[in-house]
Amino acid sequence: MSFRTIEWTGEKLILIDQTKLPVEETYVDYTDYREVAVAIKTMVVRGAPAIGVTAAFGVVLAAKELLALKAVKTGGDFAAGLEVAFATLAATRPTAVNLFWAIKRMRGVVEANEGLTPAKIYKALERQSRIVYDEDIAANRAMGRFGAGLIAGDECTILTHCNAGALATAGYGTALGVIRACVEAGKKVTVFADETRPLLQGARLTAWELHTDGIDVTLICDNMAGALMRQRKIDAVVVGADRIAANGDAANKIGTYPLSLVAREHGVPFYVAAPLSTIDFELSDGSAIPIEERDAVEVTHPGGVAGAPEGIKVWNPAFDVTPAGNIAAIITERGVARAPYGAALAALRVK
Ligand code: MRU
Repeated sequence: MSFRTIEWTGEKLILIDQTKLPVEETYVDYTDYREVAVAIKTMVVRGAPAIGVTAAFGVVLAAKELLALKAVKTGGDFAAGLEVAFATLAATRPTAVNLFWAIKRMRGVVEANEGLTPAKIYKALERQSRIVYDEDIAANRAMGRFGAGLIAGDECTILTHCNAGALATAGYGTALGVIRACVEAGKKVTVFADETRPLLQGARLTAWELHTDGIDVTLICDNMAGALMRQRKIDAVVVGADRIAANGDAANKIGTYPLSLVAREHGVPFYVAAPLSTIDFELSDGSAIPIEERDAVEVTHPGGVAGAPEGIKVWNPAFDVTPAGNIAAIITERGVARAPYGAALAALRVK
């Protein structure tokens, strides 16, 4: 890959600005965790795993700031200061559970090192953030291998929605990781990418990412998926997820649920690729997954240009929930889960 989504230098965090792609490939430096929180909220960085990894580095930046404060003398002062950063980062986007998973993991490091000096706790946090980053890439590669095993034959055509690629993770991608692994396995892969209204992650990000990597990709509008499945052979739909309930119901970018219905109607297997950090075992089903609602302007002003009457009422949920019954398999880094998902996901759970 010619780009890096997230880079930690030891001093600062560098993010590719996803709001500027594909027109500009710009990188932004962050040294203040509050600005990292704004970057997550405004989608400079987006995609569930990428949000989690970024939040982990945001915590490290907060810890660095506290370390420089004279008033912070004990591990207790340090831990209390970090709670403000945890809350700020957690208040950015509600649906991607990886955000809360990463914050919980960083808080766990603080708790495990209670009683040590701030400098020692800082070191442990920094080490943990690098582990979170490395584990994400390793998980994506493992998912890729498991997912490629589900796609039969030497040639395949895959439809995907939103961007579940290197841009949505520390690298390689979840759904696009499956596609990359198919390519690496020597398959001839054709990808159809939904443009993904309203923010066009498919057109701006997936099309750019695959095109940059030389993977054959054709862009379609979201409302073309039905005609495509009727007229052309689609071997599989592969998407990512922002939060999967214990029963396998999966929240992903708005438009994923209707895509699952079209796939079911046409007998096309619908796969969800997501790391175990995306599974929320505390939620028994998808009805309790919090769905982010975003600003009306994203719908009324596509590309920043007015495209609807001023003052029009808008509903803009960023995600929908695909029922487990529409999902042929959930691909994780520990293996492929099939229905009934309750038992299958529990068996894969990291103890
Ligand atoms: O609003 P976004 O762009 O953060 O939504 C991203 C998605 O819906 C992705 O499909 C999901 O996070 C999986 S990313 C590996």
